[in-house]
Amino acid sequence: MKDTTKIYSISASEHTAAMKEFVIGSWQPVEGEAIYVALEHPNWAPWLEASAATLAGRARVFPHGQLVIKDLAGQYAASLSMNQILWDGQIAHLPSWDAVAGDPTDYSKTHNVMGNALVMMSVNVAPACKGKHMPTNLIAYAKVVANGLGMEHLLGSFRPSGFGQAKKAHGHDLNFGAYCWSKQEGTGKPIDPWLRSLAWNGLELLAVDPAAMTVKVSIGEFEEYKAQYKPDAWIEVAEGKWECEEVGTWNIDSNNGIAVYVESNVWGKIPLY
Ligand SMILES: CC(C)(COP(=O)(O)OP(=O)(O)OC[C@H]1O[C@@H](n2cnc3c(N)ncnc32)[C@H](O)[C@@H]1OP(=O)(O)O)[C@@H](O)C(=O)NCCC(=O)NCCS
Repeated sequence: MKDTTKIYSISASEHTAAMKEFVIGSWQPVEGEAIYVALEHPNWAPWLEASAATLAGRARVFPHGQLVIKDLAGQYAASLSMNQILWDGQIAHLPSWDAVAGDPTDYSKTHNVMGNALVMMSVNVAPACKGKHMPTNLIAYAKVVANGLGMEHLLGSFRPSGFGQAKKAHGHDLNFGAYCWSKQEGTGKPIDPWLRSLAWNGLELLAVDPAAMTVKVSIGEFEEYKAQYKPDAWIEVAEGKWECEEVGTWNIDSNNGIAVYVESNVWGKIPLY
């Protein structure tokens, strides 16, 4: 693997100039709680969000892969969490998001220092900074990191941010893969907002990650989520199947007293030049 010091030879001031009032770099374990509050919690459903301890753990396991953008006052604007895996280049061998994250999801069980691929696992933009191309800046820096580490691939198992709403608009009967590959008329870019943003950065869609994230809880815990998270959005779309404008679906298994959430994502590749 190449010497990685060149990643950090890019001075903060150089990036400040490139990004105007923002700086970009790696987050430290001590910032786990602050990143959770500013970026993770506002953007993820409670059953999907990473805890402050997990965010801190990721920075201990793979500091080069945990990127954050702050303004000059130190306010958090956006983050990108990446893990490093070995991939043989075959689409059929792409793992699930869960398999890349490991359990716990701090990459401690899955980070492979001999890996040849960086995987973008989670991108979060602070509510006040949305629409300012933060992801484009994170990806530009991720390419510097990937090239500095001698990676062959920059991948992601991406969750299409508009799929939950689109499903609702289509009576909860919408094919996930067809949606991900659907293009806007005129621009020819993806219909989905997040995939469209990634397309500006050269995204090539590879394959559906059909059970990217699976979460199993007791029915009691599921009922708490229903009561507390977007309480007006929940719909039983078929017997024992619940949705709340998220990408995935909850399946109730009354016999075993559990509820299982399964979310599909889509694998894609960003060119490293
Ligand atoms: C999904 C998310 C990361 C997108 O970030 P954002 O700040 O909202 O969006 P961007 O600034 O990248 O994009 C804003 C617009 O600029 C466009 N754009 C993005 N990069 C661009 C570029 N380099 N050049 C030109 N246009 C660009 C986008 O396509 C979008 O245009 P639109 O109006 O047609 O939709 C953000 O909304 C978020 O944090 N969501 C919650 C968490 C999540 O779902 N994360 C993704 C899964 S890991």
